[in-house]
Amino acid sequence: MKLLALAASLRADSLNRRLINVAAPLARELGAEVDLAEFSEFTMPIFDGDAQAASGLAPGALALKARIEAADGMLIASPEYNYSVGGPLKNAIDWVSRARPVPFRGKTALLLSTSNGAFGGVRGLWQLRIPLEGCGTFVHPDMFPLPFGGKAFTPEGALVDPAVHQRLRQTIEGFLSATKALAARG
Ligand SMILES: Cc1cc2nc3c(=O)[nH]c(=O)nc-3n(C[C@H](O)[C@H](O)[C@H](O)COP(=O)(O)O)c2cc1C
Repeated sequence: MKLLALAASLRADSLNRRLINVAAPLARELGAEVDLAEFSEFTMPIFDGDAQAASGLAPGALALKARIEAADGMLIASPEYNYSVGGPLKNAIDWVSRARPVPFRGKTALLLSTSNGAFGGVRGLWQLRIPLEGCGTFVHPDMFPLPFGGKAFTPEGALVDPAVHQRLRQTIEGFLSATKALAARG
């Protein structure tokens, strides 16, 4: 089983990148092949239907499309902006959704987030489910919001709290089982 793992932040010191950098090796440990991508590989302009009609998908969107197509599922760590999904990720979903067949269709997704707040970005994850499910993705029912992200990681990048690490492992385990079951269904 192959997964695309991505933190949807361009920030050099992104907390969500720290989270995906823990989640991706855990998924590997649990048997998945993981393509750990950088969001900066997929920069693209603000969606413009005229630009798409004139030139097709932006190069960044084409690159993301190819990486999604090559995977069975996605691990997405997404910052919460203003109680919702971050604009850069929503823009990327909008661009990629214009491809045919829609690359998101039939893929699975596990949504993760972290922020310095007490909710850990979970409100943004609920919003992120909508465009992904609208595009035909099986979004895993369990999600992984990590509160107080600024204090959650050691300087080496591990999760400070072993119980939180264990919860993440179990969440990924459940997601991999669901992805496997869907793949077996064909
Ligand atoms: C435009 C903007 C809006 C934000 N809104 C929220 C919010 O609604 N809830 C929250 O917990 N954090 C919010 N934050 C703080 C981000 O969660 C925090 O900066 C986080 O570290 C961003 O993710 P990153 O570290 O992966 O870049 C916001 C940050 C920005 C830049």
